[in-house]
Amino acid sequence: MAKITKLDDIVSLCKRRGFIFQSSEIYGGLASCYDYGPLGVELKRNVRKAWWKSVVQTRDDVVGLDCSILMHPLVWKASGHADKFADLIAECKKCNTRSRIDHLKEKSNTADDEHTEHISIDAAQAHAHDLTNKICPACGAVGNFTEPMPFRLMFETQMGANVDDSMKMFLRPETAQGIFVNFRNVLDTARVKIPFGIAQIGKSFRNEVTTKAFIFRTREFEQAELEFFCEPGTDEKWYEHWKEKRFNWYLALGIKKENLQFRQHDPDELAHYAKACVDIEYKFPFGSGDWQELEGIANRTDYDLRQHQRGIRTLNDWFENNNDLSKIQLKAEDPDYHKGPLSYFDQENKKRYIPYVIEPSAGIDRSTLAFLVDAYDEEQVRGETRNLLRFHPQLAPIKTAVFPLVKKEGMPDTAKKICNELKKYFNCFYDQKGAIGRRYRRQDEAGTPFCVTIDGQTKEDNTVTLRDRDSMEQIRLSTDKLSGYLRKKLEM
Ligand code: GAP
Repeated sequence: MAKITKLDDIVSLCKRRGFIFQSSEIYGGLASCYDYGPLGVELKRNVRKAWWKSVVQTRDDVVGLDCSILMHPLVWKASGHADKFADLIAECKKCNTRSRIDHLKEKSNTADDEHTEHISIDAAQAHAHDLTNKICPACGAVGNFTEPMPFRLMFETQMGANVDDSMKMFLRPETAQGIFVNFRNVLDTARVKIPFGIAQIGKSFRNEVTTKAFIFRTREFEQAELEFFCEPGTDEKWYEHWKEKRFNWYLALGIKKENLQFRQHDPDELAHYAKACVDIEYKFPFGSGDWQELEGIANRTDYDLRQHQRGIRTLNDWFENNNDLSKIQLKAEDPDYHKGPLSYFDQENKKRYIPYVIEPSAGIDRSTLAFLVDAYDEEQVRGETRNLLRFHPQLAPIKTAVFPLVKKEGMPDTAKKICNELKKYFNCFYDQKGAIGRRYRRQDEAGTPFCVTIDGQTKEDNTVTLRDRDSMEQIRLSTDKLSGYLRKKLEM
């Protein structure tokens, strides 16, 4: 029977093998911030690479972008984040712990049933706030909360050294806005025609009230976002296209189908910009083993581009109010907004419009966690427990390890030579320490798909042993066929 993976097993393996460490650990650690170690950094790089390959490299209708994290403060006024990006929280009157009210559990209901990511204050206010039966997660007191209040999620910072020209800035809470404000630049320079998308991978920051479960919800994280611009009226077709495409991406990289599902958002939980939204959920092993959001796919309509047209119209007010965001209101929309600076002119049909946007928005850290959880396995082999990570070859941090059977008879030199040759194509690891069985186990735990062993026979007939991580089967292969064989198997 397959073993049920626990988050603790994953956390402990990640620490032991150098995938993920707590940030600032030698100072006692910084809550909800994590560092990726030597294996983790390769894994995460491969997750990014696989996303980019699927969303940008293999398509001819998507281009890439890399925007700065700090952006003009008016961007956040126009996008709605400055006024609306907040969680409703309540403070426990007994222990003073603040919690998101949508994450509070009922006294009679111990299931981990939090499904929501952030919802706009408007949407949150539509919910009833009866906290009489809700439990404080810190001290267990029931129904002893203050009135709910909004808690802003954007981190603030200061830019500039001089008192008179320094201004309050925000660390971006999503990468998407960098794409919207560059829509015109890309349109004018990249010879793109609607429908087309702009993709970006980068860090985002949110001062989360509840952080959770290792790298699942942190205050600094990486997003992989696509804004796909299309003609209004074709948006529902593209929404379906990206739903299917993104779901299949996880399956193609080895996530088990039974651990993946869609969840359509109810109208009252939609973000302030969305006409429709669906989550791709993964069955994470925390709480009661509940389904949690892995990625959101939203129909953002023409909301953002229209809002930025209003933002640009507000620039004068911004200067007149000494760059103080709190003193300005966004200018009303131009009645001719569809002809504005962020509109698109369809040459063939001689039409001008503001495009609609379909947005698949994934978390790189969160999918890395899902790939780790899904790949984790324990099995009994000859009375011993074998821990292994059954990573898809594209994701495995190390693709092949090369061992000399013993440290003599020229075996280390041959092994090093083979390892260096393979390194031209992919990450390859040389190891000569310890018994061969232990060396195999160490690579199983790192998720390395293949191990190559140089032994006495290598000198005789130029063959090596190739061991498969998943089946543990071994075959002999001639050294001149090795690189080609592995590159095919590893899809490199
Ligand atoms: N631009 C749309 C947007 O940002 P979101 O649902 O708030 O939508 C998209 O975030 C994805 O980013 C989530 O599905 C999740 O994978 C990731 N994400 C969001 N907040 C996160 C956090 N605090 N820690 C880790 N990943 C997060």
